[in-house]
Amino acid sequence: MAQRIIIIGASSGIGRKLALAYAASGCKVAISARREPLLKEIAAQYPDDITYSTMDVGAADAVDTLHRMIDSLGGLDLLIYCAGTGFCDPELTPEKLGVTLHTNVDGFASIISAAYRYFRDRAPRVPAQIAAITSVAATKGIGVSAAYSASKSFEQKFLEAIAQLAHINRLPLTVTDIRPGFIRTDLLDASRHYPMLMSPDYATRLVMSAIRRGRSVDTVDWRWRLLTAAWHLIPRPIWVRLNINF
Ligand SMILES: NC(=O)c1ccc[n+]([C@@H]2O[C@H](COP(=O)([O-])OP(=O)(O)OC[C@H]3O[C@@H](n4cnc5c(N)ncnc54)[C@H](OP(=O)(O)O)[C@@H]3O)[C@@H](O)[C@H]2O)c1
Repeated sequence: MAQRIIIIGASSGIGRKLALAYAASGCKVAISARREPLLKEIAAQYPDDITYSTMDVGAADAVDTLHRMIDSLGGLDLLIYCAGTGFCDPELTPEKLGVTLHTNVDGFASIISAAYRYFRDRAPRVPAQIAAITSVAATKGIGVSAAYSASKSFEQKFLEAIAQLAHINRLPLTVTDIRPGFIRTDLLDASRHYPMLMSPDYATRLVMSAIRRGRSVDTVDWRWRLLTAAWHLIPRPIWVRLNINF
């Protein structure tokens, strides 16, 4: 049977690339996001293999929509959470803070929890996977992107906790936390220069490889793995004096 995959946050960027790549490889894919015209255009490329539903991950009806997507696929093998938002926001504006927490914290927790409960309760228990795109921005608190880096840290801790819960409950559930560095997508400011920027195609290949191998944590790519390993070694009194500006 074809693998059944749900991708949350698939109207653009990595989620979009993943949807098209999985459909091209014969999977059945259900995608969601808020911008319906973009979802429709993606589904139209694989009308037999991609279905779509509009969803705001932080809205009250998001979990009901998720369950309808699972029903439409006839079950679920892999959930990938790609929805995310973030800003360079040195002013710490309330609006940007609220939008970031809505998607990366409230929406993330409610969708990942609902997927976990689905996998826990379904019978028979068969292998399943939850994967999410977090970020290298969670490695340390980043002053100019405080809400984003803190929200990604929340996501990483939540995934670690879910993995432990699955182990306690002896669920055959793989939890995969993928931590990319900069990727050229709409999330970034197109007018700015970013170091070690990756193309969406390159990053998507690495994301799919991490999911296929069932990695628990994978930093994408090797350059970012080295850089974040170095960041971990920097003591806090020195870190807070660095002028990190992205
Ligand atoms: N690009 C990077 O440099 C980079 C680096 C590290 C990690 N990441 C992470 O990778 C993930 C994918 O981002 P991307 O780079 O592919 O950027 P993107 O093109 O902006 O994609 C973000 C996706 O999230 C969806 N989304 C945002 N808010 C949502 C909400 N409230 N409800 C439902 N869907 C929502 C968007 O769809 P709608 O607007 O249609 O709802 C879109 O499909 C994010 O979690 C991001 O933090 C990106």
